[in-house]
Formats: sequence, C-alpha cells, structure tokens
Amino acid sequence: MNAPGGLSPAVAVLALLLSAPAAPAAAHGDAGCRACHPLAGAQFAQTAMAHAAGSPDFIGELAAADNPARCLDCHAPGGGAGLACTDCHGDGGHPYPAVAVPGGCARCHDAPGESTVRRYLAGPAPLRGEDCLDCHLPGERAGHDFRGPSRPGFLAGVARLRMLVRREPGGPVAVIQVRHRAGHALPGGTTGRAVWLRVTGLKGDGRVAWSEQVRFGWEHLPDGRWREATIPPGGGVMLEFPRPQRGGSVRLRAELVYRFRPGPLEPADPRQVLLDRLELALVEQHTE
Ligand code: HEC
Ligand code: HEC
Ligand code: HEC
Ligand code: HEC
Ligand code: HEC
Repeated sequence: MNAPGGLSPAVAVLALLLSAPAAPAAAHGDAGCRACHPLAGAQFAQTAMAHAAGSPDFIGELAAADNPARCLDCHAPGGGAGLACTDCHGDGGHPYPAVAVPGGCARCHDAPGESTVRRYLAGPAPLRGEDCLDCHLPGERAGHDFRGPSRPGFLAGVARLRMLVRREPGGPVAVIQVRHRAGHALPGGTTGRAVWLRVTGLKGDGRVAWSEQVRFGWEHLPDGRWREATIPPGGGVMLEFPRPQRGGSVRLRAELVYRFRPGPLEPADPRQVLLDRLELALVEQHTE
C-alpha cells in the first residue's frame, strides 16, 4: 500500500517522527508535571494505575481482544505504560478543576463489566460519609499513593467468616456468613478477580470427607454479557451447607481466598491472598 502523497511507507514514517515534536506534547500525559510536582509524580508512579497497561496478564489479554483500542481507553488513554496525570486532571492546564470523587473515577470504574462506582453509590459507605479516597488514599487525601488489592498487605482483614451449625428436623445445617469492609461489592472489580469460599468436611484423622467451593465475582458469559455474583457491602452473604457430617466428617474448615487471576481455585494463583480461615468441631456442637 502506498502512503499518501506518493511517499514510500518508510519515508512517511520518518516524516511523522520528525513532525512529532511540533505537537503540544505537554498537553497530555505526565510531561513536565513531575518536574514541579515531584511528590505526586513519585507516589503515583508506584500505583497499579500507573502500570495498568504493563502487566503480563493485560498484554496477553490485549493481544486476544477484538477491539484493543477500547481497552486502552481505560488502561492507557494517552499511550505508554498506564494512566498519566491528565487522565484524571484533564488537559485544560492550570488552574485545574478539583477531581470529582467518585464522578472522575466513574469513567473507568463504572462501565459495562465495571460497577465499582455504582455499587459504592448503592451501598452504605456514602451514608457513613466515606468516599473512594478515604479507603484508597488513607490518611493523606492530597497524596497520590492510590492503594488497592495489588498493594501487598491491602487485603489483610478485609473480609471475615462466621460459621455455626443450626439444628433442623432433617439434620444439622452448617451456616457460613461472609462479610467485608469494602465500600462496594467484593471483589470490587471484574477482570479475573474473584473470591472463593472453600468448605471442607474433615474426618477424625484429618482426611477430607467432602469439599465444596463457591466463587464470588463477575463472570464473562460466552455470549459477551456479564453476570454478577459478588458479595454486597453491608450484610454480606449467608450460605447453607446441609449434612455437614456426611462422609464421616467431624470438623468443618472454611477458607476465603482472593484470586487475581481467572480460572478455578486449583492450581493456586501465585498472588492469591487468604482473607480468612475458620474451623469448627462438628461433634462438640452436636453433643452440646
Ligand atoms: C487516578 C486519578 C489521578 C491521577 C492519575 C492523578 N491525580 Fe492528582 N489528584 C487526584 C485527586 C483525587 C486529587 C485531590 C482532589 C483534587 O483536589 O482534585 C488530586 C490532587 C492533585 C494536586 C493538588 C493537591 C496536591 O497533591 O498538591 C496536584 C498538584 C496533583 N493532583 C498533581 C498530579 C500529578 C502531577 C499527577 C501525575 C503524576 C496526578 N496528579 C495524577 C487524582 C489523580
Ligand atoms: C512549572 C511548574 C509546573 C508544572 C510543569 C506543572 N505544575 Fe501544576 N502547579 C504548579 C504550581 C506552582 C501550582 C500551585 C499550587 C501548588 O503549589 O501545588 C500547581 C497546581 C496544580 C494543581 C492544583 C490545582 C491548580 O490548578 O491549582 C494541579 C491539579 C496540578 N498543578 C496539576 C498539574 C499537572 C497535571 C501538570 C502536568 C500536565 C502540572 N500540574 C504541571 C506548578 C506546575
Ligand atoms: C482513565 C481510567 C481511570 C480513571 C479515571 C481512574 N482509574 Fe483507577 N484504575 C484504572 C485501571 C485500568 C486500573 C487497573 C490497574 C491494574 O490493576 O492494572 C485501576 C485500578 C485502581 C485501583 C486498584 C489499585 C490496586 O492496587 O489494585 C484503585 C483503588 C483505583 N483504581 C482507584 C481510583 C480512584 C479513586 C479514581 C478516581 C479518583 C480512579 N481510580 C480513576 C483506571 C482508572
Ligand atoms: C470503605 C472503604 C472503601 C471505599 C469507600 C471504597 N473502596 Fe474500593 N476497595 C476497598 C477494599 C477493602 C477493596 C479490596 C476488596 C475488594 O476488591 O472489594 C477495594 C477494592 C477496590 C478496587 C480493586 C478492584 C479489583 O477487583 O481489583 C478498585 C478499583 C476500587 N476499590 C475502587 C474504588 C472506587 C473507585 C471507590 C469510590 C467509588 C471505592 N473503591 C470506594 C475499600 C473501599
Ligand atoms: C471501562 C474501563 C475499562 C475497560 C474498557 C477495560 N478495562 Fe481492564 N480494567 C479496568 C479496571 C478499572 C481494572 C481494575 C480491576 C477491576 O476493577 O476489575 C481492570 C483490570 C484489568 C486486568 C487485571 C489487571 C492485572 O494486572 O491484574 C486486565 C488483565 C484487564 N483489565 C484487561 C483488559 C482488556 C484486555 C480490556 C479490553 C478488552 C480491558 N481490560 C478493558 C478498566 C477497564
């Protein structure tokens, strides 16, 4: 194919490269910002957002996407490895208007298959006066050290399990409650993120009598639609496991695991985090 103007493609590319510096490079991106705002620059550089187009998982999925440009609208709107300053502050230059929270986040965190902002607005956090920055920029609202699940330690203690055995005419039923303190659903995002509850009945000698798994998160259906099965903020979820003593089980173990990667619970995701773990003796409960 011939490039416009009758230039050979190689010459056309060279001409584009040579004309690039004439473009107003400072209008978008980070160009120059860091020189005058070194703290914001240094803090933001270590966030997941600054590298949103750089992870191996993203690069792999991008290569397989039908419309890769659409992915970059949220992951690296200005090109490069991820978000830049102007993706939140706009291209207008000083004086910059305040970034609306959560409105300014909704562009990327509330879209088909992304419901973090919607679930926040519908949940109890706004009524408590908590916004995104209270939890994701704790203690330093003017800073740029946006933290989330990909920051080691962030997930510690975010969810709790409670377990009891209820006597029923048809036999005992184990009841497990999962609650969390995120300001939106758990998991807050969609892409591959999931929380798994694994419930295991253990025999007296420690061997597994039975095991069941429940996945919470979004699921991308083959027809392209998304199905939501997340844990809502506030009351959480309550699940029932009938006949916990089946297979000779005398103890019940419940584990709650946060996975970053899609796919089943096994094999383990190398980055996965154990959110909580509980054990309950069934025999003692029964003879009480
Ligand atoms: C994810 C969105 C986001 C990105 C990206 C972002 N900021 Fe901010 N910035 C905010 C929010 C939110 C505030 C606080 C609310 C407000 O006043 O706008 C803020 C405030 C500021 C302020 C005023 C308060 C302060 O910290 O001195 C400066 C300056 C600033 N940002 C510079 C930058 C620079 C430079 C970059 C790029 C390195 C950047 N921001 C990237 C969201 C962002
Ligand atoms: C030549 C130095 C310089 C450069 C370059 C610069 N800023 Fe600023 N910026 C300032 C000063 C000075 C202030 C005044 C308030 C302060 O000290 O934080 C400011 C304030 C801000 C604020 C607070 C709101 C406002 O407008 O007063 C934001 C947001 C901001 N800058 C973002 C940016 C972004 C984004 C870039 C890059 C596109 C950038 N700045 C580049 C010097 C600069
Ligand atoms: C231009 C799109 C865009 C905007 C605007 C945006 N984000 Fe993000 N954000 C992303 C993307 C993409 C990721 C995923 C990064 C990754 O994990 O690779 C992300 C990730 C996050 C995370 C998870 C970080 C982690 O460590 O796992 C938090 C928290 C977050 N954003 C908060 C905010 C808040 C608060 C605002 C508004 C002030 C905001 N974002 C605005 C695109 C955006
Ligand atoms: C009360 C605290 C709280 C508030 C308010 C809050 N979050 Fe979160 N957020 C969390 C916790 C805890 C997690 C980790 C568990 C999870 O994924 O839900 C999280 C996770 C996230 C993630 C990562 C999702 C993923 O699956 O990787 C993003 C993105 C995010 N929050 C954005 C936001 C935005 C945007 C707002 C404002 C609309 C907000 N959060 C409000 C506590 C909060
Ligand atoms: C509407 C904005 C938006 C669009 C469009 C989007 N993403 Fe994302 N993506 C996010 C946000 C926000 C996150 C952070 C976690 C979450 O909320 O699910 C994320 C997280 C991811 C992650 C996990 C990041 C990691 O390193 O663990 C991958 C992979 C990903 N996206 C791939 C893609 C691909 C491929 C496309 C295009 C087919 C795409 N995304 C389109 C907003 C978007």
